[in-house]
Amino acid sequence: MRKCCLITGASRGIGKSIALELSKTYGLHILLNYARNTEAAQQTLKEIQDAGGTGELLQYRVEDFEQTESVLGTWIKENKDSKIEVLVNNAGITKDNLLVFMEASDFNDVLDINLKGAYNTTKVVINHMVRNRYGRIINMASLAGVKGVPGQTNYSASKGGLIAMTRSLAQEVAKRKITVNAIAPGFIESDMTSELDVDTLKKLVPMNRFGKPEEVAGAVSFLVSDSASYITGEVININGGLS
Ligand SMILES: NC(=O)c1ccc[n+]([C@@H]2O[C@H](COP(=O)([O-])OP(=O)(O)OC[C@H]3O[C@@H](n4cnc5c(N)ncnc54)[C@H](OP(=O)(O)O)[C@@H]3O)[C@@H](O)[C@H]2O)c1
Repeated sequence: MRKCCLITGASRGIGKSIALELSKTYGLHILLNYARNTEAAQQTLKEIQDAGGTGELLQYRVEDFEQTESVLGTWIKENKDSKIEVLVNNAGITKDNLLVFMEASDFNDVLDINLKGAYNTTKVVINHMVRNRYGRIINMASLAGVKGVPGQTNYSASKGGLIAMTRSLAQEVAKRKITVNAIAPGFIESDMTSELDVDTLKKLVPMNRFGKPEEVAGAVSFLVSDSASYITGEVININGGLS
């Protein structure tokens, strides 16, 4: 059986780092999901292959259940020699504004991609994991979902919801040897944070710097390892001391 790992939003940033790390450390076949940036996704796949790993692209928009079921469900049906052992729900967006100015569409879009998107992919993969009686699910939350951030009521709600979903699902599937955990990064260098005022914001961080995607990927790698087999329903904060 070929062991696979599905990572949503793996074309760039944190997801890309996780893909490279899990390919290198565990030799997992990487299913690399993304929404529209095919060039970046192909580049990530090339870097996996250049390092001796394997993978393939699975383009679908996580907020669209029909598309998720069609692309991912079809892949599962057509690859009976493969099992998805690891799922990282990493795809996410921000549409920041103070609540008084926030349009309903900006609230809904963020909830749809960050929270419902994680439900959609997990819903398609979970039966497969239950049948295999093994799985590792890691949900990419955020410090915003732990403590709340002004200007991010939509994003904080989506990530807080993701943490609650993590804890509930962990209890539902623990008997099947499936662990479900969340990671809550603070400020991490990526396209998502590229417009922020780094010099001002880094002063808020006790380590006086933004984190690197590799520093998040390292924690994901630990949660995938056998050493983490009794950890479930937890949230690992990675924020340079910010919380
Ligand atoms: N960076 C931070 O400081 C930080 C802090 C806390 C939490 N996080 C969380 O970490 C995760 C990754 O963030 P990042 O900084 O790496 O972001 P990023 O650099 O903006 O990358 C976002 C990734 O998500 C994908 N994506 C966006 N919308 C999608 C959709 N509808 N369906 C499928 N994929 C979609 C993008 O694909 P395309 O390339 O096709 O657009 C891309 O691969 C997010 O969940 C984010 O909320 C980030």
